[in-house]
Amino acid sequence: MLDFDQNDKKEAPIGVFDSGVGGLTVMREIMRQIPNEKLIYFGDTARVPYGGKSKETVTRYSRQIVHFLQENHVKAIVVACNTASAYALETLEKEIQIPIIGVVKPGAKVAAETTKNGKIGVIGTEGTVLSNIYPTYIRDIKQQVQVLQKACPLFVPLVEEGLLEDPVTDEIAKRYLAELIDLDIDTLILGCTHYPLIRDTIGRIMGSQVNLVNPAYETARELKELLEREALLNSRHPELGSNQYQFFVSDGAEKFKNFANSIIKYGILSAKIVSAEDYEGTSKR
Ligand code: DGL
Repeated sequence: MLDFDQNDKKEAPIGVFDSGVGGLTVMREIMRQIPNEKLIYFGDTARVPYGGKSKETVTRYSRQIVHFLQENHVKAIVVACNTASAYALETLEKEIQIPIIGVVKPGAKVAAETTKNGKIGVIGTEGTVLSNIYPTYIRDIKQQVQVLQKACPLFVPLVEEGLLEDPVTDEIAKRYLAELIDLDIDTLILGCTHYPLIRDTIGRIMGSQVNLVNPAYETARELKELLEREALLNSRHPELGSNQYQFFVSDGAEKFKNFANSIIKYGILSAKIVSAEDYEGTSKR
């Protein structure tokens, strides 16, 4: 039998954060795969994009958001942003006591385990590519692999403009992906939160022989396993009207809400504005 404390912990929310709207693709997977959990999402819409920023800046921003989430008594944190996972996760893991996971390791693991010809492609932001984190994790699992990375910075604004199925997106995708096609990869990691939203376009250009890995899906699966291991999985569904899903952003709440409602089929009633900067240097739970 669990004591009351453990029950309280199980019913505490999970914090999920990203540089903006992209992490909603991860949020969506968590909602699907572990529907009993309460979730608090923070999108740093005032400071997006993280993709071209330095490791120091991304780490500072991420730390502030983690503090905000801890102030909201989360039991675990998911770094839904690939760039923040690449640059900040290692530091954050050392600074906090609750479980925290990113999106990079789960995606890298599946790619390493499923490639047949040992040729893996990774697409992501400049920061994620520069950090070299995907190749490092992939080679930790399987040494004899070729990993070709390609930064695709224009995909983020295209997705945010809603050009999910559009000739412009097609054209840019063809240019970005040409090198990966030439290398004859059999696995491609969608190493940025926005890319699963143009999965069809990417899949069409790469061809059906290429397996597309969506780290969002793998992360939700690993999160569930982690919560089970730590005896933190919530077995009871939260009551209706319990604010099961809460959304916070650092700017543009209305725009966020509209985008969120277009990708998560759950009426997002509101997003509250929070200034992440106010959480500099607080909280050490
Ligand atoms: N969320 C970011 C990522 O997954 C993409 C957007 C940005 O550059 O902030 O890397």
